[in-house]
Amino acid sequence: MNEPENKKTAVIALCGKGGVGKTSLSAAIVNILSTDPARKVLAIDADPAVGLSSALGIAVTKTVDDIRNELIRRVESGESGGKEQMLSMLDYEMFSALAERKNIAFLAIGRPEKEGCYCQVNHILKDLIASLAKNFDYVVIDGEAGIEQVNRRVMETVTHLILVSDASAKGINVVKTIKDVSKDAIAYEKAGLMVNRLRDQSEFEKLAIPPELNCLGWIPEDNTIRSFDIDGRSILEIDDSPAIAAVKNCLNVMLS
Ligand SMILES: Nc1ncnc2c1ncn2[C@@H]1O[C@H](COP(=O)(O)OP(=O)(O)OP(=O)(O)O)[C@@H](O)[C@H]1O
Ligand SMILES: [Mg+2]
Repeated sequence: MNEPENKKTAVIALCGKGGVGKTSLSAAIVNILSTDPARKVLAIDADPAVGLSSALGIAVTKTVDDIRNELIRRVESGESGGKEQMLSMLDYEMFSALAERKNIAFLAIGRPEKEGCYCQVNHILKDLIASLAKNFDYVVIDGEAGIEQVNRRVMETVTHLILVSDASAKGINVVKTIKDVSKDAIAYEKAGLMVNRLRDQSEFEKLAIPPELNCLGWIPEDNTIRSFDIDGRSILEIDDSPAIAAVKNCLNVMLS
């Protein structure tokens, strides 16, 4: 694929109700995007439960939250030195928190921010993540369940918001709320829905999906995804499967 050299980074984030498949689909998207070795992909796990690392088979040694806590400790104990010194320490720490596997880098955010304090530290980290993202062609963020908890450190930079739901009315309602709330919080270019774990086309056709959710397509219930999860195997090892093929179609619609 020919891509212009100065192409802007596409920052893709996945949100939706608990358990609908955000982590599995994030890993599937990383799998698809990274098949071209010329593309650099940054996977960010914004869920404190760090499920994406196991779905990708990448070990987490340090999270952004660990770096933040260490920085706060240094500031409070007067060890932080000048601004320059603090920034170079942060650069180094951020680099050491990045796990790499071929053309994929992985960063885990850790626990959500505690509101109200340490604003300066939060800003510095947000800026660092945003400048890190610029070195990649694609950033894929496995978000948390609700928009209220969506981590501001990463969400403000999102260009493509993927809403994930299962066939349930509850799942669809959650993504509707997420889309409404996120309109003010995120200046995304495009948002679209992936309906996960359907049995067949007729099940999809029976769903009453509000048109404003911009449905990208549906993903079948896929035994490969299930069994890889059960065996603790990386979704990056899946060459092809019905779910991967369907995610690929949805991605094409989203990124076109
Ligand atoms: N298309 C699919 N076919 C079969 N199983 C799937 C599919 N998508 C997800 N699953 C399974 O559903 C379960 C939940 O998926 P996953 O962990 O990706 O959801 P999640 O939205 O990230 O959950 P959480 O909100 O807890 O982070 C997992 O066991 C996963 O293997
Ligand atoms: Mg998850």
